[in-house]
Amino acid sequence: MKKIILTAFIVATVLYAGAADSTLAATPPMGWNSWNHFACRVTAADVRAAADAIAANGMKDAGYVYVNIDDCWEGTRDAAGKIQPNEKFGDMKALADYVHSKGLKIGIYSSPGPKTCAGYEGSYGHEEQDAQQYADWGFDYLKYDWCSAEKVYQRSEMEAVYKKMHDALVRTGRPIVFSLCQYGFGRVWRWGASVGGNLWRTTEDISDLYDRMSVIGFDQDGLEPFAGPGHWNDPDMLEVGNGKMNHDEYITHMSLWVLLAAPLLAGNDLSQMSQETLDILTNKEVIAVDQDAKGVQGRRIAAEGPLEVWAKPLADGGIAVGLFNRGESVNPVKVNFKQIGAKESSKVRDLWAHKDLGSFTGNYTTDIPRHGGVLIKVQ
Ligand code: GLA
Repeated sequence: MKKIILTAFIVATVLYAGAADSTLAATPPMGWNSWNHFACRVTAADVRAAADAIAANGMKDAGYVYVNIDDCWEGTRDAAGKIQPNEKFGDMKALADYVHSKGLKIGIYSSPGPKTCAGYEGSYGHEEQDAQQYADWGFDYLKYDWCSAEKVYQRSEMEAVYKKMHDALVRTGRPIVFSLCQYGFGRVWRWGASVGGNLWRTTEDISDLYDRMSVIGFDQDGLEPFAGPGHWNDPDMLEVGNGKMNHDEYITHMSLWVLLAAPLLAGNDLSQMSQETLDILTNKEVIAVDQDAKGVQGRRIAAEGPLEVWAKPLADGGIAVGLFNRGESVNPVKVNFKQIGAKESSKVRDLWAHKDLGSFTGNYTTDIPRHGGVLIKVQ
C-alpha cells in the first residue's frame, strides 16, 4: 500500500511540475539547425534556403518540420530592452512568416546567461521580454543554451533558471518547443521534463567525425527510462552530409539516432546536398523507427568488443534492431532473437534497403563493414 501511495505521489508530482508539454513533441522533433554547417556565418538567406529545400526535396514529406536558427542571429537591445536581430537577419517576423508560408515551423536560440556561447546577447534579466518577442515574431521552438549562465548562476540554480524561461514561454500563450542545452550537467535527464523541457542535450558538442559521433551515440545506453512522448534525450544534431564521415559512418549515425528516439535535426547545407545525403536523411522506414508512436528509446542489448546490438520496441509489436561494427575491419554481427524478446522464429526486414530478408530461427547474422551498421525490423 505504501508503495502504491508513493508511486501515485511521484506520478502526481511529475504531472504537476511536469510542465513538459507532450502535445508539443509527441514524437522526437525533426527539422534542421544552422549550427553544424553554418556556425556563426549563418544569415537569413541561409535560413530561407533551408526552408525552401525542406519544402521541395522530400524532407517535409519525410517529417522534417522545424527550421532552427542557432547562435549568431542576435543584435543589441533597444532603449526599451527589446532584443533586435543583427544585420545578417533584419526582419525576424518576415523570416518567420516566410518559413510558415512553406508549411514549416521556425526555431530560435538564446542563453540564460548575459552572453551566448558565441558571445552574442543572451536573455539574462530579459527572460519575460525575450519570450514575448519570440512569440510576437512567430517562433515555435527555443534552444536555450547555458553558456555564460555559468558566470552568473550556481549550478544548483540551473533547474530554476530553465523553469523561469519555460514559464515565460507558457505565458505567451504560443506553443513553443523548449530545448534545453546544458551538455548533460547535473543528470539533466532526471529533471529536464519537470522544468518544461521537451528535449535536453545529454552531451557536449558533436562534430563531423566518426570518433566523436560514435562516442556520443553509443554512450547513450542507460538513459532510455527518461525519454518518452513530450520529453526526449538529445544526443545533439545530425552531421549527415557535412563531409567528414563516409557513407557507412553516416548510416551508423542515422541508424543509432533513430534507435535512440533522438531529435532529428539535420545539420548540413540543405541547399547543396548530394542525392546520397538526401537518401540517408529521408528514408521513411528508418525515420518511422525514430517517430514510432510508442516513444521508447532503444538500448544496447549485447556487446562483444567493437560489435554491438541495439534494440527499440515498436508500437506494432515489431522490434527495430541495429547491428553495429565499431571495429576497423569487416565483422559478422549476430542478434539473438531470445535476447531481444522476439519469437524463436522471426521475420527480418532490412529497413535501409526496404527488403524482406526472410524468416530466421534463433538469430540473424550478417557481415558489417568497418564503422558500419545495419538496421532491421524483427517481427
Ligand atoms: C554550444 C552548443 C552548440 C551551439 C553553440 C553555439 O556549443 O552546444 O550546439 O549551439 O553553442 O554557439
